[in-house]
Amino acid sequence: MLKETGFLDFSAKNILITGAGSGIGRTTAVTLSSLGAKLVLLDINEQGLQETQKLCKNISSVLVHDLSDVGGLKKAVEDKVAETGKLNGLINVAGIPCVQPLKTLKAETAEKVFRINTLAVLELSKIFCSIKNHQGDYPSIINISSVYGLVGSAANVAYSMSKTALHGITRSLAIEMAGKNIRVNCIAPGFIKTEMLDGVAVSFDNEYNQRLQALHPMGLGEAQDIANAAVFLASDMSKWITGTILSVDGGFTAI
Ligand SMILES: NC(=O)c1ccc[n+]([C@@H]2O[C@H](COP(=O)([O-])OP(=O)(O)OC[C@H]3O[C@@H](n4cnc5c(N)ncnc54)[C@H](O)[C@@H]3O)[C@@H](O)[C@H]2O)c1
Repeated sequence: MLKETGFLDFSAKNILITGAGSGIGRTTAVTLSSLGAKLVLLDINEQGLQETQKLCKNISSVLVHDLSDVGGLKKAVEDKVAETGKLNGLINVAGIPCVQPLKTLKAETAEKVFRINTLAVLELSKIFCSIKNHQGDYPSIINISSVYGLVGSAANVAYSMSKTALHGITRSLAIEMAGKNIRVNCIAPGFIKTEMLDGVAVSFDNEYNQRLQALHPMGLGEAQDIANAAVFLASDMSKWITGTILSVDGGFTAI
């Protein structure tokens, strides 16, 4: 039975979003806020967080934290939960790109990418799944990976490694947490017009840009396309969906 409040009413939900200082994380925060969610916005970029907070209609709280400090996450998040209340959702958006061929890739660089893009997600999931920190009928974890977690790409080995690992975390944790009714899903975006893409695209020539367009039958995506999918997976409308990797890529992986 549909609840009277409607599935897209987030007024009873408190959701932690990482990477909320920019791009996909910011758009997801603003969208969820407009649907009534209370938010905890996490990012390394304090100014970006404040800008996001200004755009949010509903109550939000900021948590400035460098996700490479995986060990410091437990205290930082638990202090925040004590202040704002238990969480109904965790959306792991933060991530860094790494465009480097294997020949020049250093182990320290790959380790840093893995720490921020993957290990921080694992640690945040562990914190969220603790009974002290979550509440609600269908608590939801959503990870943001990439099409490069599904298909290969030259000079992307470290990034691809970190995103493919998110698929493993999503599937196995979904099974482990099903008994607690905690859902775990993942969105694998194609190329989205955000600051991250701007940063990476400076090294693209015209020919590569054309190839990139051709790889997306529906053109490049917008942050809102990913935010919309995240809203669905965070809502009770998707209450029986867990362990899924949802491609949101304008047809990239259908080719
Ligand atoms: N933009 C794309 O084309 C695209 C495609 C596929 C997947 N993705 C993934 O989507 C996610 C968001 O990307 P985006 O395009 O919005 O990028 P973005 O650069 O606009 O936003 C990423 C956010 O993560 C934060 N962040 C980075 N390192 C951090 C750290 N150590 N600690 C805390 N916060 C940190 C940044 O400050 C930034 O606010 C990433 O995980 C990215 O890999 C993006």
